Amino acid sequence: MTVGDQQYETVWIEGNVVYMIQQNKLPFEFVIHKCHTYWDTCLAITDMVVRGAGAIGAAAGYAMAQAFLTAKGKNRAVIIREARQDIEATRPTARNLFYAVERVYQAGLRSAEDALVEAKRIAREDAMSSKKIGEYGAGLIEKKANIMTHCNAGWLAFVDYGTALAPIYLARNQGKDVFVYVDETRPRSQGGRLTAWELYNEGVPHVIIPDNASASLMAAGKIDMVIVGADRIAANGDTANKIGTLEKAIVAKALGVPFYVAAPTATFDLSCKTGKAIPIEFRHEDEVLYQTGYDKNGHLVKVRVNNPGSKAYNPAFDVTPSKYITGIITEKGIVKAHHASIKKLFEE
Ligand code: MRU
Repeated sequence: MTVGDQQYETVWIEGNVVYMIQQNKLPFEFVIHKCHTYWDTCLAITDMVVRGAGAIGAAAGYAMAQAFLTAKGKNRAVIIREARQDIEATRPTARNLFYAVERVYQAGLRSAEDALVEAKRIAREDAMSSKKIGEYGAGLIEKKANIMTHCNAGWLAFVDYGTALAPIYLARNQGKDVFVYVDETRPRSQGGRLTAWELYNEGVPHVIIPDNASASLMAAGKIDMVIVGADRIAANGDTANKIGTLEKAIVAKALGVPFYVAAPTATFDLSCKTGKAIPIEFRHEDEVLYQTGYDKNGHLVKVRVNNPGSKAYNPAFDVTPSKYITGIITEKGIVKAHHASIKKLFEE
């Protein structure tokens, strides 16, 4: 994607160093963050310098490659196994992380160079899958469409293109009249901060809405379709995505608004028979109790916004049962959120 006049991917590797767009500083500052060791990359994933299923997967694959490239001595195999555990402990829900680590680990058992090649291949596949998702998804978008999205499943959440936003970018480029309602997505505001920044940067007309406005907009007939991303999809189509997705899906079903999930096959976890088996990440209560932003002098400030003394409960994801999902847009086509359709997708 282009920022200013330069082409960027969300995360990449040069030599042993992993580079990524520092997403905690967006939309106020555009900064590139460097990770010199696998451990630096782990911290960047945990602290959400890099976030979003595909980008986490690519970063995790690069972290695994960094471990293979740098581990030395007679304990090398132990060091690499421990590195794998550290990487897998960074964030539990996004399937892409475990998918990438497993592939790079297996390649690394042949050679460190193979680990690096595999990590780069995963990142490339992520970008190409997103591009294809854009092509399939754009076909669902009418000539004039008001689309709602939740969280950020744009190019910042992947290596390039994005999933939920890729069809929107392509539809706009095809001359369609698209307008996007962006759920703010508290507590970390990935919608208000990141999706809005992406759409603004791309010149796509949009407006940020508070999370609790989406039902009233759907009830008023202002939304033609909802497209969201996914962090993990079970074998029956139940989908884990950013907290708040479930309520949008229930409302969309009740009001007859099509609700699509856009995700690459790397996000499916067929070992989870249903959404009940998907591990849900809980994050620190400070994300709910405080907000960060920039003051008038351009300094990043963190302010308490909720009652001092109260505790907060902060699940990062919820699971939307497949019955609420109209279809899943993948790089191989659009499938029903249903066990048989998903099985067929993986057999082909
Ligand atoms: O916690 P995050 O920001 O890593 O959450 C992941 C997400 O960005 C969303 O759940 C998204 O909609 C799916 S991942 C592309």
